[in-house]
Amino acid sequence: MSDCSRTRDDVFTLFQFQIGDELQQTITFYDRWALTYNQDTTLINYRAIHHAVDFLNNHFSGNREEVQVLDVACGSGLAAELMVKLGFRLFVGVDGSKGMLEQAAQTGLYQDLKLALLGPEPLPAPPDTFDVVIMVGALDDGFAPVSVVRELCNAAKPDTRRIWRESCS
Ligand SMILES: C[S@@+](CC[C@H](N)C(=O)[O-])C[C@H]1O[C@@H](n2cnc3c(N)ncnc32)[C@H](O)[C@@H]1O
Repeated sequence: MSDCSRTRDDVFTLFQFQIGDELQQTITFYDRWALTYNQDTTLINYRAIHHAVDFLNNHFSGNREEVQVLDVACGSGLAAELMVKLGFRLFVGVDGSKGMLEQAAQTGLYQDLKLALLGPEPLPAPPDTFDVVIMVGALDDGFAPVSVVRELCNAAKPDTRRIWRESCS
């Protein structure tokens, strides 16, 4: 999956036929896609992460330099790359794909990156700790189950606002 001459249609086809209902299949897909994920998602104009970060930017009023951000299913680290431009500094990332975590590590923006298969494994995050918990593009069949939302809430500090927003483009 490292062909630079891929078209937008090639990327859609790739996604459509290689993602199934099995989590392990999904993770294998992302491990293989990791190297060209950023390039390919730009090609298909993937905007979900931009929508989520824009929404956060418009609603967050704390001290951005000090708050702890937990980026669940962080993938290649696009959330941190966008959020750092808005003043956020402290990021912990979690993902089930080693290949994607390696890309996230290359951004140099995460204080910590953890490998975990959410659903079968617990979210590796201490309770009542994070000011911002963000998860984009990973709650679906063959991805993370909805029960993970409870774990996201547990990882957030008790007095934080819970904002749930679905976006799929
Ligand atoms: C569409 S990508 C989204 C990545 C990033 N949040 C973004 O918006 O660019 C989905 C990510 O979720 C991860 N993922 C899917 N299911 C997961 C699970 N059950 N546990 C951990 N990671 C998972 C994949 O490895 C992949 O990195």
